[in-house]
Amino acid sequence: MSRLRWGIVGTGGISRTTAGDLHLTENLDLVAVASRTAAHAEAFAAEFDVPRAHGDYDALFADDQVDVVYICTPIGTHAEVARRALLAGKHVLLEKAFTTTAAEARGLAALAAEEGRFLMEAMWMRFNPMIQRVLDEVAAGVIGDVRTLQAAFGFTPPPDRVHWRPDLGGGALLDMGVYPLTLAHLLLGIPDRVEATGEVRDDGLDMTASVFLRYGDGRFAHALTTLAGPIDAVAAVGGTRGVISLDPPFFLRDSYRVLSVPEFTTRSESVALEGRGYVPMFRAVGEALADGLREHPLRPLADTIAVLDIIDDVRRQLTEDGTPA
Ligand SMILES: NC(=O)c1ccc[n+]([C@@H]2O[C@H](COP(=O)([O-])OP(=O)(O)OC[C@H]3O[C@@H](n4cnc5c(N)ncnc54)[C@H](OP(=O)(O)O)[C@@H]3O)[C@@H](O)[C@H]2O)c1
Repeated sequence: MSRLRWGIVGTGGISRTTAGDLHLTENLDLVAVASRTAAHAEAFAAEFDVPRAHGDYDALFADDQVDVVYICTPIGTHAEVARRALLAGKHVLLEKAFTTTAAEARGLAALAAEEGRFLMEAMWMRFNPMIQRVLDEVAAGVIGDVRTLQAAFGFTPPPDRVHWRPDLGGGALLDMGVYPLTLAHLLLGIPDRVEATGEVRDDGLDMTASVFLRYGDGRFAHALTTLAGPIDAVAAVGGTRGVISLDPPFFLRDSYRVLSVPEFTTRSESVALEGRGYVPMFRAVGEALADGLREHPLRPLADTIAVLDIIDDVRRQLTEDGTPA
């Protein structure tokens, strides 16, 4: 398989977490890094063994030695940074949450189609082999028909983190709530109705959201997210003949349990993770491009947009009805 040349954009937390996994992935070479500050780019390049360092993002987008850019900047910057990358002719893997609104995501999807470039949300959970095994078990009818999904994720980031910056796409919903809501969408699809309660600050930052998704016939998903304190990042999918429980944090773990009813027997399963868990997603981007695809079938843009539609709806309900924090 030919190796694609990747550049990483931004030198913050997730760039540092994933650089090792980019090096571990056999169908790509991490050849460049860009920062808004040349010294940061050079320091990152030296620390993570990246050959080329750019002191601004557009210089990386203009680098003809780079095929794919992995954008790791704050959520509120995603739409503009990805737009510039696409216009410069790069294929784009864009960190979650993809954009701050579904409208921004639709705009990027249209631009990628016009430019004939690959575009995907870096929803690594979708490529986690444990999640894939759970979806396969569900599809095989192991727990019968899916009726319910409960999932949660939240913690309190340090005060200097972007989570606290409404101008940069901060808040619980986009950074953390995107995982339980994506899992709900994967298992149950687009809801008939979204009902949300929670807390928003006066400046519009969403602190806590409890989201009840209704699917008809009594089927539901409940997703909980918060910046107010750590909550148990568990997930459980309930069916007519059992429950699959994912150990916390559910989006990156390698194990789950299956409870069968009415027997009330349990079975535990585990799946090997590669690196820190990002390798399957990076590999999948290269495989899709090798097949000439411009979206990955496991994370098409329509799925990303469907989840952002839910988040838009939740944010609207919280802003209209939320209790000020
Ligand atoms: N997949 C995962 O497991 C995971 C985990 C954490 C975060 N994320 C996602 O990754 C993205 C980045 O999160 P992070 O935790 O890495 O954030 P971070 O530590 O704050 O780093 C973000 C980087 O973006 C760049 N940047 C560009 N414009 C900026 C601005 N106006 N203010 C601050 N930084 C700016 C900076 O790099 P330069 O100074 O070098 O330009 C900064 O270091 C978000 O979309 C987040 O949701 C994903």
